[in-house]
Amino acid sequence: MNLILLGAPGAGKGTLAAILIEKMGVPSISTGNILREAIKNGTDLGRKAKAFMDEGKLVPDELVIGLLKARVAEPDCSKGYILDGFPRTIPQAEELDRIAKIDCALSLEVPDEVIAQRMSGRRVCLKCGATYHIENFPPKAEGICDACGDPIVIRADDKPEVVQSRLATYHETTEPLVGYYRAQGKLKAIDGTQGIENTVKFAAEALGIEV
Ligand code: AP5
Ligand code: MG
Ligand code: ZN
Repeated sequence: MNLILLGAPGAGKGTLAAILIEKMGVPSISTGNILREAIKNGTDLGRKAKAFMDEGKLVPDELVIGLLKARVAEPDCSKGYILDGFPRTIPQAEELDRIAKIDCALSLEVPDEVIAQRMSGRRVCLKCGATYHIENFPPKAEGICDACGDPIVIRADDKPEVVQSRLATYHETTEPLVGYYRAQGKLKAIDGTQGIENTVKFAAEALGIEV
């Protein structure tokens, strides 16, 4: 199954994707994680993306589409994948429709007020991409990634003013994708405010998979 996770910054796409990869047996692809890794490694892509990300703006379509195409062509994607954070613009969605058959777009609905609390407590591992929350989803040992043992940190774009800019970008440019996939009959929307366990349950019901 090729699944898209839609939702505002902080809606819980990455958290849900990490759980669904186990249940569905397919990899998840986070364009945000790929871009953060490129920045950390100082690659050409990272240098081009950094200024946009630091301001809460979208990275230009041609850069993101190029990296997505390369990623879905890798062998582990042959049985399907979960897209977390792509597409984010109508041109990205149109390009995706040219290269893949999308089965479902699952939208996590979370109001802006809830997002601020989530972002202020979020911690991430820049090595393996794992995501935590100091209250909602803490790691077993404070400050240390459960999965790989690296220190977990505050994301550069989780400063309150950047979060506001990311939310504005979301409403303006990415939210229209809800209508795009509804028109294709592929949209499923779930409540993303009821804790991580319930979000997984609602997602599984919507997708018709066992949890
Ligand atoms: P990206 O990394 O994709 O960020 P985002 O979409 O802003 O989403 P987040 O990763 O912030 O949130 P999330 O929905 O994954 O939530 P999470 O699970 O972490 O993109 C970053 C930047 O890269 C963009 O701004 C852009 O510049 C660039 N970019 C990326 N893709 C691009 C593209 N396609 N085109 C152009 N530019 C692109 O959860 C948040 C917190 O809440 C965590 O602490 C978590 O533990 C907690 N939490 C999660 N679920 C729940 C729940 N149900 N209840 C309570 N707490 C929860
Ligand atoms: Mg994420
Ligand atoms: Zn880690």
